[in-house]
Amino acid sequence: MTQSLEREVTATAANSGANATSVFKNKQGESVAVDPARVDEVATAAIKALHEVIREKQVTYAEYDALKSWLISVGEDGEWPLFLDVWIEHVVEEVANADREGSKGTIEGPYYVPGSPQLGSEGTLPMREDEPGTPLDFSGQVRAVDGTPLANATVDLWHADDLGLYSQFAPGIPEWNLRGTFTTDADGRFMIHTLQPAPYQIPTDGSCGKLIAAAGWHAWRPAHLHLKVSAPGHLLITTQLYFDGGEYIDTDIADAVKPELILRPTAKADGMGNEVGYDFVLDPA
Ligand code: DHB
Ligand code: FE
Repeated sequence: MTQSLEREVTATAANSGANATSVFKNKQGESVAVDPARVDEVATAAIKALHEVIREKQVTYAEYDALKSWLISVGEDGEWPLFLDVWIEHVVEEVANADREGSKGTIEGPYYVPGSPQLGSEGTLPMREDEPGTPLDFSGQVRAVDGTPLANATVDLWHADDLGLYSQFAPGIPEWNLRGTFTTDADGRFMIHTLQPAPYQIPTDGSCGKLIAAAGWHAWRPAHLHLKVSAPGHLLITTQLYFDGGEYIDTDIADAVKPELILRPTAKADGMGNEVGYDFVLDPA
């Protein structure tokens, strides 16, 4: 790896945490209205669960103090969005979408930004002139659970580049690089031209990286496309698609891979990269 690429990768940890924190704060605003009875019920259960871990594992004062200083540093590094989305969000998603009949969802992660360029029913994601990676034609149809094609459905796609970096969260990448919003045609179809992303590594020089190193885990998510698919009168689904045989597909640190979400691209006949189809089915609102 060249020096400049190395610098770009290591700079990510310092930037991505702060950016993910401010993006989340903007999304959330001031209003966090939670029913006090639910706060009592859930906070009591969570604290009790932690007490049980301390008893079961005979946690020492030295370990308690190590935890305290680590928790303080997660906040200082702005890494709460990363920590929560890697280790906690997948169970929240499991509970939230348990009753859906349509397409499977999975975690959103910390790197979604609304308002990406509108590209119609067929288009190419914004990318740099020399953007590295294998071209990928990603096409499909959006349908209701009864099979009706959904015209004017929205397919919002964002993904990392060939170094595993996200625009707006790593320095030096154009604002909307590899982010775009598509609208299905009269048959509910879309065609997206992009590049296959690379696996994503959790920043290693922040607190989350320190936890991973201290525990002897690996820091990787398999390569993935992020999507939000929605249509009037239907429930929005937030999901990700992965690549068959891809590195870390069986050991995703964020535990967000599901068998239904694995793509099997094939080489295009014209030799210009790969193609793959995937249809989305939306539950009624
Ligand atoms: C994180 C990053 C991702 O790209 C993702 O999909 C999920 C989580 C993270 O760093 O927390
Ligand atoms: Fe991601």
